[in-house]
Amino acid sequence: MKIRKAVIPAAGYGTRFLPATKAQPKEMLTVLDKPLIQYSVEEAAGSGIEHIAVIVSRGKDAILDHFDRNPELEQFLKEKQKFEQLHEVERITGLAEFHYIRQKEMLGLGHAILMAEEFVGGEPFAVLLPDDIFDCPVPCTQQLITAAEQYEASVIVLGRVDAEGTKKYGIIKPHPIADRVFRVDDMIEKPGPERAFSDLAIIGRYVFTPEIFQAIRDTEPDHRGEIQITDAIKLLRQEQPVYGYLFEGTRHDCGDKIGFLKGSVSLALKRPDYAAEFRAFLRDIDL
Ligand code: UTP
Repeated sequence: MKIRKAVIPAAGYGTRFLPATKAQPKEMLTVLDKPLIQYSVEEAAGSGIEHIAVIVSRGKDAILDHFDRNPELEQFLKEKQKFEQLHEVERITGLAEFHYIRQKEMLGLGHAILMAEEFVGGEPFAVLLPDDIFDCPVPCTQQLITAAEQYEASVIVLGRVDAEGTKKYGIIKPHPIADRVFRVDDMIEKPGPERAFSDLAIIGRYVFTPEIFQAIRDTEPDHRGEIQITDAIKLLRQEQPVYGYLFEGTRHDCGDKIGFLKGSVSLALKRPDYAAEFRAFLRDIDL
């Protein structure tokens, strides 16, 4: 089982960020000096992914431009001898082979992933949600791929959450298999602490076998008319085992305004070029 392809769903409205996302994609909001989606693309590329399909919709052209060549800009940077910036601009374009697929109606994450069926072409593949930035010793997607290759099965990344987190995420019923590996015996969407099976939440990285597409097709839309990937994974589980992998590292959920702010601050404090000045600034703020 070799995983070479990844899908990055980026077609949603980003309503939690309005008004910032009225005329620009959420995935292009900048964390430090890079748009959110570039973190996922770099993680995929660093995990051996060669082809990336980005699921887009109306108003998302900035994503296509970001990963495309820009010959005028490159020429300009060359003439001004700004070689560092030139190298960075060129590097982004070469991170992977990019494919863009349009989701015409935003019918949920499951539906967005279904749009990539032809691109995936019957192989196992990774899914990365650009809201999450992972800061890990081994790229998070690489950790998942290693587990998926070992178990020859779908593997979803897990993170531990507190009681509040059980209201925000899907929670699994875990059956321990090995260090950090659990068989997923059941799952429940946003149960709250009373109904949660565990503190293990499903977060934004997955490796799926191609059978997930049939499961998505068989999934009923939820009360909002959206096809949820969690419901499709529940169906997939009835056909074949699905595993969860408790990743090693730190995750920043940048999918809402406060998470975005926390993620930006945490990452700035880890960046050698910003850390000292920023830390001094925070220390001086009158809290
Ligand atoms: P989110 O729920 O985080 O994104 O979906 P959203 O719907 O854009 O944002 P809110 O909740 O309204 O603030 C996770 C990922 O799935 C994509 C989103 O673009 C995001 O990257 N997505 C979601 C789709 O591609 N299509 C959809 O129909 C829904």
